[in-house]
Amino acid sequence: MKSLINTLDFSVKEQDELLALANRMAASPKDYNELLKGRIMASLFFEPSTRTRLSFESAMLRLGGRVIGFSDGSLSSTAKGESLSDTIRMVSHYADCIVIRHSKEGAAQVAQTHASVPVINAGDGGREHPTQTLTDLMTILKVKNRLDNLTVGCVGDLKFGRTVHSLVKNIGRYPGVRFLFVSPGELRIPAFLRTYLDELRIPYEESSHMEAALGLMDVLYMTRVQRERFFNEEEYIRLKDMFILNSQKLENAGKELAILHPLPRVNEIAYDVDDDPRAVYFDQAGYGVFARMALLAWLLDGKELG
Ligand code: CP
Repeated sequence: MKSLINTLDFSVKEQDELLALANRMAASPKDYNELLKGRIMASLFFEPSTRTRLSFESAMLRLGGRVIGFSDGSLSSTAKGESLSDTIRMVSHYADCIVIRHSKEGAAQVAQTHASVPVINAGDGGREHPTQTLTDLMTILKVKNRLDNLTVGCVGDLKFGRTVHSLVKNIGRYPGVRFLFVSPGELRIPAFLRTYLDELRIPYEESSHMEAALGLMDVLYMTRVQRERFFNEEEYIRLKDMFILNSQKLENAGKELAILHPLPRVNEIAYDVDDDPRAVYFDQAGYGVFARMALLAWLLDGKELG
């Protein structure tokens, strides 16, 4: 039984096929509107979400399926003390797949252990967010027409940023990809990611100067400093506005730069950037529907791939 818990659960070949399917779905969504008729997706969100939850639900509905679930774990029997493993055992009887977001790192893996249906990790704490990566890769492919030979700049909270962790591990598998990491020293990429990159000899540089790095990037992946991951409010306030992208700073960047952000943004991208043709973060959020349609089709109707 297939699931998606970690961003490397797909081979590059499988992923390329999945992204091709996502593009076919985006080009002609009506062709797929009965593919998952009669199937049910359970959407279990123990942590807040706008894009991931609603794009998954939209994806399942667009494939002809139906959705059950909750958007607030405190309204489930978790509030009465039910364990995650018991919740998952129950929901496995009610749905054909489970999409789970949880604040605890490793929660999706625990869910998979106890599920009898496919499980999709929609973000587990500060660890991974593999379906955001599918969305990111689909966006980069649309804009750059390739996933190889790119200089990818990641800016902001690289320590707790699960979207960065998944994207870096994943796109780092494509030849010729290098990374420029820009963050405050306190929010550097974690040791596990440095070890991963070092072992695979994937080149990267770290700095705390965004403006100087902008001109070197093909892709700029901005991220939010995540208040919810900090134990210390003072530390969050000190770090939150260290990197703010605005139109003036973009004068240093290449004309072909693609600016991505998993969203939500707070202050890190000024609103005057939104009209810049290089800003693709709202399109990126839209591609999330098709990336997730392809994933659901792959998990629940595997013959659609290839
Ligand atoms: N990108 C993302 O995960 O957004 P949400 O938290 O709104 O789902």
